[in-house]
Parts: sequence; C-alpha cells; structure tokens
Amino acid sequence: MSAAATTTTTTVPRGKLREALDYLLWFYTPFKAMSASDIYELVSTNAYSGQGLYLNLGYWKTARTIDDACVAMAMLVAETAGVGPATEVVDVGFGFADQDMLWMDRLSPARITGLNITPTQVRIARERVAARGLADRIVLLEASATAMPLPDASCDRVLGVECAFHFDTREAFFREAFRVLRPGGRIVLADVIRAQPDPRPFRRRVQAFNWKFFMQKYAVPEANSDTRQDYQSKLTAAGFIRARVDSISADVYPGLHHFMKTDPSMLRRFHWLARLPYRLTLKFDWESVYSAYDYVLAVAEKPA
Ligand SMILES: C[S@@+](CC[C@H](N)C(=O)[O-])C[C@H]1O[C@@H](n2cnc3c(N)ncnc32)[C@H](O)[C@@H]1O
Repeated sequence: MSAAATTTTTTVPRGKLREALDYLLWFYTPFKAMSASDIYELVSTNAYSGQGLYLNLGYWKTARTIDDACVAMAMLVAETAGVGPATEVVDVGFGFADQDMLWMDRLSPARITGLNITPTQVRIARERVAARGLADRIVLLEASATAMPLPDASCDRVLGVECAFHFDTREAFFREAFRVLRPGGRIVLADVIRAQPDPRPFRRRVQAFNWKFFMQKYAVPEANSDTRQDYQSKLTAAGFIRARVDSISADVYPGLHHFMKTDPSMLRRFHWLARLPYRLTLKFDWESVYSAYDYVLAVAEKPA
C-alpha cells in the first residue's frame, strides 16, 4: 500500500465568500470545471440526511423521510450482497462512513475497508468511526476506487452506494473490483446511469441535454455514459459472471421528488446558492426531471 494512498490532506476551512463564489461559478456558469473531490469538498457536511451525513438519493420503497431512505439504500446494497459476520467488505465512495457504521451495527461484517478520494470526508469519517470505537474494524483510506491500494483476492464483497458514476472510469473500477475480490466474491452497486433513449425525438434531445449537464456539473466522465446493457457488458468484460443490472428508478426518483416538494428540511440543509436549481426542478413532474437517468442496482460475481 503506498504512503500517498493513505495520507490525509489537512483542509483549511474555506471562507464564506470563497464558498459562495465557488457555488456561483459551479452551478450558474460554464466556467468552473470541478473534480468529484472538489465538489464534495465544497458541499462539505451539507448532507442530504438530517440524521448522519448521507449523500445518496435514498431508496423510497417504504421510506417516507430522507433519513430512512438513505439508510434503506445502504441496506439494500449490503443485503443484496449477503453481507454477514464472516464477510470482508470493500466499500468504495464511502462519503462520511455512515453506511459502514450502519452495516457494522446491523450485519457485523468481519472488516470493512473504505476507499474515498475526498480528504475532508476521509478525515471526518475516521473521527466518527473512532468515536464509535470501530476503528479496528472499519479502516478508511484516502484512495481511488480505480487504483485500490489492496492486494489481489483480499475481500469477499465490493460495495458502492451511489458513487461509481464519478469513477474515471467505471470500467477501470470494475477491473480493480474483480482483482481484489476472492473467487466467488460479489460486487453490488447502487448507481446512476444513462436512461434508455426515448423514441420521441424531442424527448430524446431533452435527455441528451440533461445527461450532458449532469456530466459537466457532477464530474461524470463521458466514458461512463452507460445504458443498462452497456453496464452489464462492461461487468462481463471485466470477468464477472451472472451480471444483473436492474432499474430501481421507480423506488428512487418519485419518492425523493415528492419528499422535496412536501418537506423543505432537506433543501434547507443545502448551501443557499445550491437551493434554487433544486427548487426549480420541483415545478416539474419527476418523469421530466429525471428522464435522462436510470437508477440501477447492479450485482455480479467473480467465478469461484
Ligand atoms: C454521492 S456521494 C455518496 C456517498 C455515500 N456512499 C453515501 O451514500 O452517503 C459519492 C462519493 O464517492 C466518492 N468518490 C468519488 N470519486 C471517487 C473515486 N474515484 N474513488 C473513491 N471514491 C470516490 C466521493 O468522495 C463521495 O464520497
């Protein structure tokens, strides 16, 4: 494991003015290209959830609040993976490690190794994990999911909650996941991908426009413009078998959209300059707002 991979950068708190300027340039102009790590440094602890610091859109099958929905998304991934007491997990894009502490509480895996490229998140997550007395079982590294500082065949599950769309590239990450998994191991991801193109030309143009906007604003490499079929093919090309990529969009977007319309608490947690674009989306129905995106649960196995 390289020293560079484990070093945590100390981040100076940014001034309010600098923060506002960064939000202005990022959200409202085409001039500021942000890396995924820049984005999460800027977003800081303005999390989606009120309890904990989750940053996923939530799984709304039965949840009625963003707090429950974020937990439900994390549990969906771990339960689909069959995480249990003997399992050694690698969690990519762990945010502030809420999901890791949740999995430890509810499923008690042998060990979780987290990988994340955002220095402040890694620092805060380590402090939270240590405060819970879990630092010996949840090891958090500042490293990319596309270059894992981990030995071959060293874990049983690779999990990722809403992060692989950022990876440069998702394909490179699949190869790394395959390498670090033991034979018979499983990868499970909740991920945002490109929706199937609409047959109606106008709608297709809107989808293309929105997807491009998403790539530019949220640091998504063009190579990750996968449809479900592309996603499955890439998993198979990396060596995985029994790859399944199922849409769970109907249990994500409508619930989130309804919640944001009826409960202002989530938007209030965002920086004030970040609220307007989200408020605008609430003027439209969820099908129009999210037509460019499919939200998938992907599962695949490394041959035994
Ligand atoms: C939308 S957040 C999801 C965080 C967390 N999984 C959750 O559900 O709250 C995406 C996360 O992916 C991380 N990330 C982005 N690119 C990464 C990369 N190449 N390797 C590891 N983590 C990455 C970000 O730092 C951030 O923590």
